[in-house]
Amino acid sequence: MVHALSFPFDFLWGVSTSAHQFEGGNLDNQWAAWERRGGIRSGHTCAAACNWWQEAEADLDLCRDLGLNAIRISVDWGRVEPAEGQWNRSAMARYRAMLCAAVQRGMRPFVTLHHFTHPQWLEESGGFTAMSAAGKFALFAERMAGELGEFCRDWLTFNEPNVYASFGYVFGEFPPGLRYRMYDYALVMATMHRAHALAYERIHRVQPEAAVGIATNWVEFQAASNSASDRLMAYAYDTVFNRSTLQLFTCGNLQFPFGALAPEVPEVMQKIDFIGLNVYNRLHVRAPWNEASRRSGGLFVPDDAPQGDHGVELPYGEAYPDAIVAAATEYASLGVPLYITENGVPDRADRIRPWVIVQSLRRIQDLVTRGVDVRGYFHWSVVDNFEWSEGWTLRFGLYEMDPVTQTRRPRASAALYRDIIGRNGLSYEQLSRFSEPPAPCSG
Ligand code: FCB
Repeated sequence: MVHALSFPFDFLWGVSTSAHQFEGGNLDNQWAAWERRGGIRSGHTCAAACNWWQEAEADLDLCRDLGLNAIRISVDWGRVEPAEGQWNRSAMARYRAMLCAAVQRGMRPFVTLHHFTHPQWLEESGGFTAMSAAGKFALFAERMAGELGEFCRDWLTFNEPNVYASFGYVFGEFPPGLRYRMYDYALVMATMHRAHALAYERIHRVQPEAAVGIATNWVEFQAASNSASDRLMAYAYDTVFNRSTLQLFTCGNLQFPFGALAPEVPEVMQKIDFIGLNVYNRLHVRAPWNEASRRSGGLFVPDDAPQGDHGVELPYGEAYPDAIVAAATEYASLGVPLYITENGVPDRADRIRPWVIVQSLRRIQDLVTRGVDVRGYFHWSVVDNFEWSEGWTLRFGLYEMDPVTQTRRPRASAALYRDIIGRNGLSYEQLSRFSEPPAPCSG
């Protein structure tokens, strides 16, 4: 069959997931404590999440039926080490069983060691503002490589340090819920990359054939006007948010002025086997001259921009497939393989998701054709899951999931993704049918 656009025969087709958002009952991490303190903006509870701790295998069956040959999961450090130095053997056995189940269903697991959650005991000792967190994380990473290495050789140390540090210490959206703490932001970024460097060495020691990467989030920042202030602000966001990880791996420090606030991390330079790019959005930037725009950090989404569902208080972002091109082009300079480790859209009605999938993959296929080393695509995600402070408000699943009854129902996007994977490419029909985003929906 002639496809319009084909992918390399060994391209990885996956979905991305994370422990806290899927497993249920993760009670020993700082997100559980944050939820108990009323930190979830929607007021929802994570509760049983997608019930993976009991029955991940059922969704792994769905993944197999989609034809996936890869999956990204994470381990919850709080489950594995609920009190410092106390390792929970049955939790490790469950993770081994989950990974084994994924492998048995034909999927290559990528395991993230820190997907926003860590034990509450670590949080109480300052989280990653404390330099000592780096060594503790490396110990945990080494342990996981030993326990799970039989089923996994692809490791991501951290998920999105740029989101973790900015949402926790600048925007106040994630625990510890602090705002405008620029010094802490810089410190957390430095410590996480120091932790990455240590974990990189330890994992390779345990498993010499391992590939150790990190996932960073990329947002396109668009100046709202040509004014110098809007452009300067968009440039500042782009530099700090999008390029810090690149800067750390190439130069071992953060950019000005953050570099002056945090210690240098020369040991992280070049310690990276692949980069994971999590790419969803474009945000528009208007220099904040009034109180309302100051509160949103000058970030907004025009009403007529293609987008999925709104969050509790803020729009999620403009769905913007071209962001993948910018992110991959920039990070290709590191000279290591790239994976799109997350991409998707909150879209309960599955209105815009098909367009996002087709147009994102069209960009990726084009990058690959031009010689950019993108090796896989992981859609976020297989089923609706607990979206951090938004709770169950934002639905990202190829399958709709009712957190009360735990029933799953495929959205049309599931069949679309299965079809693309099955043909290892995009058809002419898909490209023309999903060439334009659907008209914005009102309300
Ligand atoms: C990413 C997170 C992931 C999920 C998606 C929607 O930034 O890594 O856990 O919440 O956004």
